[in-house]
Amino acid sequence: MESTAFVFRPRGSYILAMATRINRRAPRLQKLISAAVPQGFTPFVARRNDLDDIEEFSHEVFADNPTERKYIRHLLSDGHAVIFGLKKGEEIAACCTLEMNVRQGRIYIVEIAVHANHRGRGLGQWTMKRIEALANSYDYRRITSHVTPGNRMSLSLHRRFGMRPQRLVRRYFHDGHDAYYMQMDIQAAS
Ligand SMILES: CC(C)(COP(=O)(O)OP(=O)(O)OC[C@H]1O[C@@H](n2cnc3c(N)ncnc32)[C@H](O)[C@@H]1OP(=O)(O)O)[C@@H](O)C(=O)NCCC(=O)NCCS
Repeated sequence: MESTAFVFRPRGSYILAMATRINRRAPRLQKLISAAVPQGFTPFVARRNDLDDIEEFSHEVFADNPTERKYIRHLLSDGHAVIFGLKKGEEIAACCTLEMNVRQGRIYIVEIAVHANHRGRGLGQWTMKRIEALANSYDYRRITSHVTPGNRMSLSLHRRFGMRPQRLVRRYFHDGHDAYYMQMDIQAAS
């Protein structure tokens, strides 16, 4: 099975202008990711000193196409992104990277991954549920992502949460793979 990470394509001031700063220490965010934690794991919200661990995790999961260090650093420093996940001891077991686009009311899943040692045990589902809870809590209206058509596990996970392919983007990833642009609209809470 192939897996493909997001590749940094500078969009410069556009993203920054559309983004908001997220307080990664805010109790609200901490509370959101502390819900229904699978037994034996510890939730974490990444900060700048997690850069090495996140880079290493991305290299392990996406061996041929890891997320670039400079992009992770950019996300951790500029505050318009949230990176969170689960640790087993000191090791990252699951991790997702989100771009928070407040103007468009949209959360973009840059990357979602579970370490090979921990797959098939619901960590992917836990992560998606937390993303949905985050969207609801911060009033984002849409969640989007790109997934390669050959990535059955990821497609299955996205579909399970109501994300549907909107269109096929040819050669979206820098290694030449196509991607489905996936989208889900959040229903306003009544
Ligand atoms: C996609 C991924 C995040 C799923 O994480 P996970 O923790 O294994 O998934 P879960 O255990 O929560 O299960 C979620 C769904 O994935 C699918 N899945 C999980 N393990 C599977 C397996 N061994 N075989 C087939 N499908 C599987 C299932 O459809 C499952 O839902 P179900 O309840 O309908 O069976 C994980 O496989 C992964 O990290 N893959 C490599 C990285 C990647 O491709 N990320 C996405 C692109 S950025």
